Amino acid sequence: MIVCVCNAITETEVREAARSGATCPDKAYAYLGCEPHCGCCLVYAQELIDQERAKRPKLRMVSA
Ligand code: FES
Repeated sequence: MIVCVCNAITETEVREAARSGATCPDKAYAYLGCEPHCGCCLVYAQELIDQERAKRPKLRMVSA
């Protein structure tokens, strides 16, 4: 499914960018070699990024 019409970015690509460390649409789109234009997609892109990041295992702090 296309998330960003301006850049033809798919949901799969946004999720991949999030798994690679992107925390926001600007960073995800930069990872994909483009940048936001109209901005219509940014809220949905952020939701996808947040969903993907929530799947990551939490880091545990170990005290010495
Ligand atoms: S739809 Fe993504 S910047 Fe326009």
